Amino acid sequence: MKTYRAAVIGCSRMGAFIDNEVPDYQAIKLPYSHAAGFYAEERTDLAACSDLRTEVMEKFGKQYDVPKERQYTDYREMIDKEQLDIVSIATQPEHRAEIAIYAAEHGVKAIYAEKAMAASMDDADAMVEAVERNGVFFNLGTNRRWHTGFDKMKEIIDSGELGRLRTLITYSNGTLFNTASHNFDLMLRLNSDHKASWVSAHLPNAEKIIDGEIFREDPVGQGMIQFENGVMVHALLSPRSSDWEAICEKGSLTCWNNGWQWKLRRQTTIPGWRTCSEEGTFPEFERTSSTANLIKDLVHALDTGEPTRGGVRCAHANTELIFAFMESHLRNGARVDLPLKGSKLRLKRDRAPRQPKFTL
Ligand SMILES: NC(=O)c1ccc[n+]([C@@H]2O[C@H](COP(=O)([O-])OP(=O)(O)OC[C@H]3O[C@@H](n4cnc5c(N)ncnc54)[C@H](O)[C@@H]3O)[C@@H](O)[C@H]2O)c1
Repeated sequence: MKTYRAAVIGCSRMGAFIDNEVPDYQAIKLPYSHAAGFYAEERTDLAACSDLRTEVMEKFGKQYDVPKERQYTDYREMIDKEQLDIVSIATQPEHRAEIAIYAAEHGVKAIYAEKAMAASMDDADAMVEAVERNGVFFNLGTNRRWHTGFDKMKEIIDSGELGRLRTLITYSNGTLFNTASHNFDLMLRLNSDHKASWVSAHLPNAEKIIDGEIFREDPVGQGMIQFENGVMVHALLSPRSSDWEAICEKGSLTCWNNGWQWKLRRQTTIPGWRTCSEEGTFPEFERTSSTANLIKDLVHALDTGEPTRGGVRCAHANTELIFAFMESHLRNGARVDLPLKGSKLRLKRDRAPRQPKFTL
């Protein structure tokens, strides 16, 4: 079978070395980084890499067998020379659109872009345009969309055995670009990618990072998302950590500890009570690497021409929620209707890249 040539742009933590941060973490199955995912996947050949930091690429080359002549400080040169099928973009969001658009315009067939998709709505719109015009397959690195536990959660919701889905809760929404981008995608996925109609949000402590239309840091944000099909999302900033809940008319599904533990409860009636919940059984599922699953999804799309599970429109819907939260905050929590029109806000941070953990 055909092997696809892949390369990683942005060879730091998520690009290459984050696996070394979570070796014993039950919630995450390795491979986790893009490079580790391509290296493990038999249908991809990790052919080249690009980063501004040569010392990081040197470690990358040693770890993933990419020779020095295929390590590029200029991603354009790499794309022009290497005949790549798949390109990963694991830089920070401020750099994403420029790289994604160049890749889409210069023959790359599939893009694995880290979240958040982009640093502004204009950038996100331009990415959709370039990706669709060039027929490029696209997945955003919102890993839970390819997580088998959330597949099971969605399967139960879709089966209707707990009645109609009414409410989704994210207990720790976090910073909008870094963390809420994961949460928003999960809410979209559990609600079968129905369209959102409005959001209302508050960003505590955002005033000191807002500079006109520029956000100088990634703000934390809480709020509500109303979907057209009636489902309401409550995105909290509670002290609980990576926990999510889907509440249906006759029961609920909860994920604790970032995909490690799961619970199903059914509503029942006990004489003397109106309604109460009783514990059911959350079905067993095979725990696999969501990064590996995402890459297999891209390979399948390249093999068959079928769409990926994510796609650039899902990524755009996610990005709209991020910017709608920011717009709502600036309007004192007023409802902001979607699709979002005319937002000129932009994330623009002045920050050095993190030092990856090169060894276990
Ligand atoms: N999906 C996940 O679970 C997950 C986990 C961690 C991080 N992330 C995401 O991955 C992205 C990267 O995060 P990180 O912590 O690895 O970032 P980082 O800041 O440590 O690394 C970014 C790398 O990109 C490189 N870079 C910047 N501009 C470049 C350019 N023009 N060409 C080539 N390389 C360039 C930098 O030199 C740096 O090495 C972020 O968007 C983050 O939100 C996702």
